Amino acid sequence: MIFTVAIDGPAAAGKGTISQAVAERFGFRHLDTGLLYRAVGVKGGDPAAAARNLTAADLDRGDLRTLEAGQAASRVAALPEVREALVSFQRRFARSEGGAVLDGRDIGTVICPEAEVKLYVTASPEIRAHRRWLEVGGDEARVLAEVKERDARDMGRADAPLRAAVDAVTIDTSSMAIDEAVAVACAVVVARLGRAKA
Ligand code: DC
Repeated sequence: MIFTVAIDGPAAAGKGTISQAVAERFGFRHLDTGLLYRAVGVKGGDPAAAARNLTAADLDRGDLRTLEAGQAASRVAALPEVREALVSFQRRFARSEGGAVLDGRDIGTVICPEAEVKLYVTASPEIRAHRRWLEVGGDEARVLAEVKERDARDMGRADAPLRAAVDAVTIDTSSMAIDEAVAVACAVVVARLGRAKA
């Protein structure tokens, strides 16, 4: 069965947790596409060459989850040559046999517009910054400023900007427990799987 769950949204909205939970629940494979951009961002040198030559070791680095790696990822992600170099790997992953969950910024709009399920997971910048701050510590105001800066860059770039696909189901997690958000996401998948089998 080919079945793609595309999960897009801004940083720290809960995409990662929801994606992992959905993948586990339905036995689908999961790709966190932000890691690809983070790996390119921290590699240094020519970003397009880094994107074309990414290795498993690049994706296994211990420093990919830092705020700095997130900012570096957001910067290289605005370069069309970098995005282009990463498209085919993501498309193949999305449409391979057995079901796949991909989370990112442009999965439902550019990478896999034919995805059976599209979710747009969001929350207010303040709530997202607070969640990120609980993970990384430091100065919360700085974390909020970084979240807003990254939103502006990811939503404002010309190539594949972050936005909800017209047919995406939006889940605003601002005042939801994560279990609730996972339950909503799973219910959307169950409904669509039912139609796929009917
Ligand atoms: O999801 P994340 O925070 O790991 O993503 C890091 C950056 O990578 C994000 O700010 C923008 C970029 N990105 C992207 O442009 N497209 C994707 N599909 C995933 C991430």
